[in-house]
Amino acid sequence: MRLLIYRYNMKNISLNIDKALGSITKEQVYAQATKASACNATLQNGNGAGNDFLGWLHLPSSITDAELTDIENTANVLRSKCEVVVAIGIGGSYLGTKAVVEALNNSFDWLLGERKNPVIVYAGHNIGEDYLYELCEVLKGKQFGLINISKSGTTTEPALAFRMLKKQLEDAVGKEEAKQRIVAITDAKRGALRTLADQEGYKTFIIPDNVGGRFSVLTPVGLLPIAVAGINIRDLVTGAVSMEKATDVNIPFADNISEIYAATRNELYKSGKKIEILANFHPKLHYIAEWWKQLYGESEGKEHKGIFPASVDLTTDLHSMGQWIQDGERTIFETVISVEEPNHTVLVPTDEANLDGLNFLAGKRVDEVNKMAELGTQLAHVDGGVPNIKITMPEVSAYYIGQLFYFFERACGISGYMLGVNPFDQPGVEAYKKNMFALLNKPGYEKESEAIKARL
Ligand code: PA5
Repeated sequence: MRLLIYRYNMKNISLNIDKALGSITKEQVYAQATKASACNATLQNGNGAGNDFLGWLHLPSSITDAELTDIENTANVLRSKCEVVVAIGIGGSYLGTKAVVEALNNSFDWLLGERKNPVIVYAGHNIGEDYLYELCEVLKGKQFGLINISKSGTTTEPALAFRMLKKQLEDAVGKEEAKQRIVAITDAKRGALRTLADQEGYKTFIIPDNVGGRFSVLTPVGLLPIAVAGINIRDLVTGAVSMEKATDVNIPFADNISEIYAATRNELYKSGKKIEILANFHPKLHYIAEWWKQLYGESEGKEHKGIFPASVDLTTDLHSMGQWIQDGERTIFETVISVEEPNHTVLVPTDEANLDGLNFLAGKRVDEVNKMAELGTQLAHVDGGVPNIKITMPEVSAYYIGQLFYFFERACGISGYMLGVNPFDQPGVEAYKKNMFALLNKPGYEKESEAIKARL
């Protein structure tokens, strides 16, 4: 049974490119309509480069109720047993989760007294010795569980973290109880993690073969830890389903926001804008930008081509990077994620003494101040020669984050094809691994070891 769409009359995220025009014209963007739609059709028909990695394309609408229930039930087991759940993974195996959890959880989560939900912490996304030390220390005496996520099942960073945390968990609660608190998410058949999980009898979820890491947030990779955090994964998926429809190849270019975004950024790139800065005025979206950077950086940065994806949190970074954006080299454009309505209302209080001179704001919502900062920044940046694309999100909720994820994924596939690269491989990420293994004398790397050591 496919997932039903329960939401009616919901708005969609929207896109406005009016302020991106200047170094390019609207006519130029619309002249790319045929190409953008053709690239969308190439995705749909599965006849382009990397077509064995298109499982994400119809993923939202093909997730079944039974799959979601299985994820929710597993999440509930972890929720009932653990105060802390460690999501172990790197790149596409953790960024989607972190993006959703940071956006929807209280920003001061760790200071909240009584908790309804386990704390989600992350490991395996670095090789920092101090980070691992501190994590292991903080877990001592706590009830914790592990979600070990690796599509390949062979990535060094998560494998190393899992080895340590598995031992700590087994030492703390015994091997049998540890098995109840460990979930592995990996390939159906291949990889060291699959072998280990099968041998140990862990609960497992499969990352489909045809879904690459950075497109996997709506598989159990993202959905399980997000559900453990107490977030409604059905809303997330339903939002993505609605965007799957809204960006379908049958939707004409003028209404298809993924096609318009792809066409606009490619035209800006051709006009010399080599860096795209994803900006937000809502600090809780910081990790959405981190997820986006992986998606676009790893998908498009190849063959010595591709827009460099960067990000800023505003107004915070207006007091640091703001100078560069306003006045630095004119090779940038900005894409702003604008949130229409915050989830809470805070009014500026009146102060009789008014020593700070802020009484002109008294009674106004903090968001009104933020919105004027946003508008003022947009105009200043446009005046400074920084084209501005605006994505509006009605609110920060699981539903709209689901829409945003799918919108960006679809646009990324289209944009990569427009650029003329295979958006679904990542040959460049192997280079550091080869050197690292050679330097660490990994068995099988003897020749590489000799060669690299001769260069030192
Ligand atoms: O997009 C990708 O495929 C990569 O960035 C992966 O997400 C990352 O390298 C982690 O890989 P794995 O899940 O195989 O451990």
